[in-house]
Amino acid sequence: MIGATTGPRVGITGLGTCVPEQVMTNADLAKLVDTNDEWIVERTGIKERRIATQEEALSDIALPASRAALADAGVEGSDIDLLIVATVTPDMMFPTTSAILADELGATSAGAYDLLAGCTGFMYAIAQAYGLLASGMSNRALVVGGDVLSKVLDWTDRSTVVLFGDGAGAVVMERVERGGFLGFELGADGTGGKHLWYPGSGSRHYDGSDSFMKMNGREVFKFATRVMVSSARSILGQCGKTVDDVDVYVPHQANKRIIDHAVAKLGIAPEKTVVNVQKYGNTSSGSIPLALADARADGRLSDGKLVLMTGMGAGLTWGSALIEWTEGAAQ
Ligand code: UT7
Repeated sequence: MIGATTGPRVGITGLGTCVPEQVMTNADLAKLVDTNDEWIVERTGIKERRIATQEEALSDIALPASRAALADAGVEGSDIDLLIVATVTPDMMFPTTSAILADELGATSAGAYDLLAGCTGFMYAIAQAYGLLASGMSNRALVVGGDVLSKVLDWTDRSTVVLFGDGAGAVVMERVERGGFLGFELGADGTGGKHLWYPGSGSRHYDGSDSFMKMNGREVFKFATRVMVSSARSILGQCGKTVDDVDVYVPHQANKRIIDHAVAKLGIAPEKTVVNVQKYGNTSSGSIPLALADARADGRLSDGKLVLMTGMGAGLTWGSALIEWTEGAAQ
C-alpha cells in the first residue's frame, strides 16, 4: 500500500515515552550467555537496554508514555476518540492493552484496539489513525507503540537476547493547520515470516516446549537492508521528494549496521539520522516513537522539518511515513 495524502492535514501534536527503570548492560548479558561487549557493540551498536521486571507488563510503560503524550498535546484522555496500541507483547490477548489504557486514561468514548504488525506496528498504526482522522471518523487519536519482548525471549539464546529491549512511545494525532503527514507506504512479505516467529503464541498447535520468539538473524538482516532502502525511496518518490529534502531520518532501531547501510545506500547525511539503539536496543514497536522523542529532545524536530520514518519487522513487514513536523499547531 502506498499513497500521498490528499485529505485534510493530520499531524502529531503530542509525544511521550517510557522505558522500564532496569538497565541491562552487555556485561550483564555476558553473565547469562556466551557473549561479550565487544561482539555486541561491533555487530549491533548496542551497549545497554531496558528490561521490564517480572511484575511489569506493557501497560505499565504504555500508560506513562500515553499520559506524557496527552500532556504534551494539552489534552485529556476524555478528548481521545481512537486509541490504537501497536504491540506483539500485550499484557494478555484480551482484554486488549488498548482497552486497559482507555479505561485508565478516562478515554470513555474511544474506539480502542491492539494492532499486530511486528516491529512495524507503530508505522501501521499511525497510517490507520491518519485514515480515520482524515476521513472525519475520528477527531483525535492516541497511538501507542510498545513492546516488552524480554518476556518472550529465550534467555539462553545469545542470538536474540543481545538485540532486544523494552520500551514504549505514544503520539497524539489530530488535524493541524500546516504540515502533517505527506504519505505512507506499508508492505508485508509472508514468505519471510519463518525467519522471525513466535511459535506457540496463538491458535496454531505447537509441539515444542520452547515457546519463545525465534529469529534467523542473517535472513532478517538481508531483508532489513533491502526494505529500509526500497520503502524510503518509494515514499519519497510518491510524495515528490528526494533524500536531500529530508531533514530528519528516523529508522527503526534494530541494529546500527542496518541503519548505517540504509544511510549509505540512500545517501542521507549521517547527521540527519537519529540513532539511539546503543541505549535501548531494538524495542520493536517502541523504537520509532522513542527515536522521535530523542530527536525532539535534541532540538531536531522544529516546525516545518521533513521527517522520514521507516520501520520493519516480523511478518515480515515494513512501513514508511513522511511528515512535515508541526510544533503546537493543533486546530
Ligand atoms: O526488528 C527486526 C528484528 N530483527 C533484526 O533486525 C535482526 C537483524 N539481524 C541482525 O541484527 C544480526 O543478524 C544479528 C545481530 C542478530 C547477528 O549478527 P550477524 O553479524 O548476522 O552474526 P551471525 O548470526 O552471522 O553470527 C556470526 C558469528 C557466529 O559464529 P560462527 O558461526 O561465525 O563461529 C555466531 O555463532 O557470531 C556468533 N554469535 C555470537 N557471538 C557472540 C552469534 N551471536 C553471538 C553473540 N555473541 N551474541
